[in-house]
Amino acid sequence: MRELNLEPVPVSDALKAALTSAGLLTDDLEGADRAYFALVDSDGGIVGYSGFETCDEASVLLRSVVVVPEFRSNGLGRRLVELTLAKLPIAAEVYLATTSAAPFFESFGFTPIQRDQAPNAILSTRQLSGLCPASATIMRLNRPPT
Ligand SMILES: CC(C)(COP(=O)(O)OP(=O)(O)OC[C@H]1O[C@@H](n2cnc3c(N)ncnc32)[C@H](O)[C@@H]1OP(=O)(O)O)[C@@H](O)C(=O)NCCC(=O)NCCS
Repeated sequence: MRELNLEPVPVSDALKAALTSAGLLTDDLEGADRAYFALVDSDGGIVGYSGFETCDEASVLLRSVVVVPEFRSNGLGRRLVELTLAKLPIAAEVYLATTSAAPFFESFGFTPIQRDQAPNAILSTRQLSGLCPASATIMRLNRPPT
Protein backbone atom coordinates (compact mmCIF):
# COMPACT_ATOMS: atom_id res chain seq x y z
CA MET A 1 0.00 0.00 0.00
CA ARG A 2 1.32 3.49 -0.80
CA GLU A 3 2.43 5.58 2.15
CA LEU A 4 -0.07 8.27 2.99
CA ASN A 5 -0.12 10.87 5.75
CA LEU A 6 -2.87 13.15 6.94
CA GLU A 7 -1.40 16.58 7.68
CA PRO A 8 -3.14 19.64 9.17
CA VAL A 9 -3.38 22.51 6.66
CA PRO A 10 -4.68 26.08 6.84
CA VAL A 11 -7.42 27.37 4.57
CA SER A 12 -5.59 28.07 1.29
CA ASP A 13 -6.29 28.81 -2.36
CA ALA A 14 -5.33 25.18 -3.16
CA LEU A 15 -7.90 23.85 -0.67
CA LYS A 16 -10.56 26.20 -2.04
CA ALA A 17 -9.77 25.21 -5.63
CA ALA A 18 -10.04 21.48 -4.83
CA LEU A 19 -13.39 21.99 -3.08
CA THR A 20 -14.76 24.30 -5.77
CA SER A 21 -13.87 21.88 -8.57
CA ALA A 22 -15.79 19.14 -6.70
CA GLY A 23 -18.80 21.40 -6.17
CA LEU A 24 -18.24 21.60 -2.41
CA LEU A 25 -18.78 24.70 -0.28
CA THR A 26 -16.04 27.25 0.34
CA ASP A 27 -18.02 30.20 1.74
CA ASP A 28 -17.87 28.90 5.30
CA LEU A 29 -14.31 27.58 5.60
CA GLU A 30 -12.96 30.09 8.11
CA GLY A 31 -13.49 29.69 11.84
CA ALA A 32 -11.60 28.68 14.97
CA ASP A 33 -13.87 25.65 15.37
CA ARG A 34 -12.81 24.21 11.96
CA ALA A 35 -9.78 22.10 11.07
CA TYR A 36 -8.56 20.91 7.67
CA PHE A 37 -6.19 18.21 6.53
CA ALA A 38 -4.34 17.23 3.37
CA LEU A 39 -3.76 13.61 2.43
CA VAL A 40 -0.14 13.60 1.32
CA ASP A 41 1.60 10.79 -0.56
CA SER A 42 5.22 9.73 -0.14
CA ASP A 43 6.34 12.22 -2.83
CA GLY A 44 4.80 15.09 -0.90
CA GLY A 45 1.96 15.46 -3.37
CA ILE A 46 -1.50 16.31 -2.08
CA VAL A 47 -4.06 13.74 -3.24
CA GLY A 48 -7.04 14.92 -1.19
CA TYR A 49 -8.41 17.11 1.57
CA SER A 50 -10.81 16.76 4.47
CA GLY A 51 -12.01 18.75 7.43
CA PHE A 52 -14.28 18.92 10.40
CA GLU A 53 -16.26 21.49 12.31
CA THR A 54 -16.74 21.19 16.07
CA CYS A 55 -20.36 22.22 16.57
CA ASP A 56 -20.58 21.69 20.33
CA GLU A 57 -19.04 19.29 22.86
CA ALA A 58 -21.30 16.49 21.62
CA SER A 59 -21.35 16.90 17.84
CA VAL A 60 -18.90 17.24 14.98
CA LEU A 61 -19.56 17.86 11.28
CA LEU A 62 -17.26 15.95 8.91
CA ARG A 63 -16.85 18.16 5.86
CA SER A 64 -14.79 19.14 2.82
CA VAL A 65 -13.91 15.55 1.88
CA VAL A 66 -12.41 15.53 -1.60
CA VAL A 67 -9.96 13.39 -3.55
CA VAL A 68 -8.17 15.08 -6.47
CA PRO A 69 -10.00 13.75 -9.57
CA GLU A 70 -7.05 11.93 -11.19
CA PHE A 71 -6.49 9.93 -7.99
CA ARG A 72 -10.09 8.78 -7.42
CA SER A 73 -11.24 5.14 -7.41
CA ASN A 74 -7.95 3.93 -5.92
CA GLY A 75 -9.04 3.61 -2.31
CA LEU A 76 -7.70 7.03 -1.33
CA GLY A 77 -11.11 8.38 -0.36
CA ARG A 78 -11.54 5.44 2.00
CA ARG A 79 -8.12 6.09 3.56
CA LEU A 80 -8.80 9.84 3.78
CA VAL A 81 -12.05 9.32 5.70
CA GLU A 82 -10.58 6.62 7.98
CA LEU A 83 -7.62 8.84 8.93
CA THR A 84 -9.89 11.87 9.44
CA LEU A 85 -12.36 9.98 11.64
CA ALA A 86 -9.41 8.91 13.81
CA LYS A 87 -8.75 12.62 14.52
CA LEU A 88 -12.24 13.29 15.88
CA PRO A 89 -13.12 13.33 19.58
CA ILE A 90 -14.07 9.78 20.50
CA ALA A 91 -17.17 10.83 22.45
CA ALA A 92 -18.64 13.11 19.77
CA GLU A 93 -21.50 12.19 17.45
CA VAL A 94 -20.25 12.62 13.88
CA TYR A 95 -22.53 14.05 11.17
CA LEU A 96 -22.10 15.05 7.54
CA ALA A 97 -24.17 16.40 4.66
CA THR A 98 -23.71 15.19 1.11
CA THR A 99 -25.56 15.62 -2.16
CA SER A 100 -23.85 12.82 -4.10
CA ALA A 101 -21.72 10.52 -1.97
CA ALA A 102 -24.15 8.97 0.56
CA PRO A 103 -23.38 5.37 -0.56
CA PHE A 104 -19.66 6.04 -0.14
CA PHE A 105 -20.18 7.20 3.46
CA GLU A 106 -22.54 4.32 4.27
CA SER A 107 -19.56 2.01 3.90
CA PHE A 108 -18.01 3.64 7.02
CA GLY A 109 -21.15 3.18 9.12
CA PHE A 110 -22.87 6.50 8.37
CA THR A 111 -26.63 6.22 7.97
CA PRO A 112 -29.04 8.82 6.57
CA ILE A 113 -31.21 10.62 9.11
CA GLN A 114 -34.13 13.00 8.81
CA ARG A 115 -33.38 16.69 9.34
CA ASP A 116 -35.45 16.71 12.55
CA GLN A 117 -33.26 13.93 13.98
CA ALA A 118 -30.14 16.13 13.79
CA PRO A 119 -29.24 18.26 16.82
CA ASN A 120 -29.58 22.04 16.63
CA ALA A 121 -25.81 22.42 16.83
CA ILE A 122 -25.55 20.61 13.47
CA LEU A 123 -28.63 22.23 11.88
CA SER A 124 -27.36 25.70 12.76
CA THR A 125 -24.00 25.29 10.97
CA ARG A 126 -23.83 27.45 7.85
CA GLN A 127 -23.68 24.26 5.78
CA LEU A 128 -26.99 22.96 7.07
CA SER A 129 -28.77 26.24 7.74
CA GLY A 130 -28.23 27.93 4.42
CA LEU A 131 -25.43 26.97 2.08
CA CYS A 132 -26.22 23.31 1.54
CA PRO A 133 -29.26 22.43 -0.58
CA ALA A 134 -32.29 21.27 1.38
CA SER A 135 -32.10 18.08 -0.68
CA ALA A 136 -28.69 17.16 0.82
CA THR A 137 -28.62 13.90 2.74
CA ILE A 138 -27.72 14.32 6.42
CA MET A 139 -25.88 11.31 7.85
CA ARG A 140 -24.81 10.22 11.33
CA LEU A 141 -21.99 7.81 12.13
CA ASN A 142 -22.99 4.72 14.08
CA ARG A 143 -19.95 3.89 16.14
CA PRO A 144 -19.58 0.53 17.84
CA PRO A 145 -20.15 0.79 21.61
CA THR A 146 -16.92 1.40 23.52
C1 LIG B 1 -16.35 10.78 -2.63
C2 LIG B 1 -14.84 10.71 -2.93
C3 LIG B 1 -14.08 11.42 -1.81
C4 LIG B 1 -14.42 9.23 -3.00
O1 LIG B 1 -13.02 9.19 -3.23
P1 LIG B 1 -12.35 7.92 -3.99
O2 LIG B 1 -10.87 8.03 -3.81
O3 LIG B 1 -12.87 7.81 -5.36
O4 LIG B 1 -12.94 6.74 -3.11
P2 LIG B 1 -12.40 5.23 -2.97
O5 LIG B 1 -11.59 4.89 -4.18
O6 LIG B 1 -11.74 5.09 -1.66
O7 LIG B 1 -13.79 4.45 -2.99
C5 LIG B 1 -14.20 3.65 -1.93
C6 LIG B 1 -15.52 3.01 -2.33
O8 LIG B 1 -16.57 3.98 -2.41
C7 LIG B 1 -17.18 3.97 -3.72
N1 LIG B 1 -17.46 5.36 -4.07
C8 LIG B 1 -16.57 6.33 -4.30
N2 LIG B 1 -17.20 7.51 -4.55
C9 LIG B 1 -18.54 7.25 -4.49
C10 LIG B 1 -19.71 8.05 -4.66
N3 LIG B 1 -19.66 9.36 -4.94
N4 LIG B 1 -20.92 7.44 -4.52
C11 LIG B 1 -20.99 6.11 -4.24
N5 LIG B 1 -19.92 5.30 -4.06
C12 LIG B 1 -18.70 5.86 -4.19
C13 LIG B 1 -16.14 3.34 -4.62
O9 LIG B 1 -16.78 2.70 -5.71
C14 LIG B 1 -15.46 2.33 -3.70
O10 LIG B 1 -16.21 1.17 -3.60
P3 LIG B 1 -15.47 -0.28 -3.54
O11 LIG B 1 -14.56 -0.22 -2.32
O12 LIG B 1 -16.61 -1.24 -3.44
O13 LIG B 1 -14.71 -0.35 -4.81
C15 LIG B 1 -14.50 11.35 -4.30
O14 LIG B 1 -15.32 10.75 -5.32
C16 LIG B 1 -14.72 12.85 -4.35
O15 LIG B 1 -13.79 13.60 -4.04
N6 LIG B 1 -15.92 13.30 -4.75
C17 LIG B 1 -16.24 14.71 -4.86
C18 LIG B 1 -16.41 15.38 -3.51
C19 LIG B 1 -17.50 14.76 -2.65
O16 LIG B 1 -18.57 14.38 -3.14
N7 LIG B 1 -17.23 14.67 -1.32
C20 LIG B 1 -18.17 14.13 -0.36
C21 LIG B 1 -19.02 15.17 0.29
S1 LIG B 1 -18.17 16.01 1.63
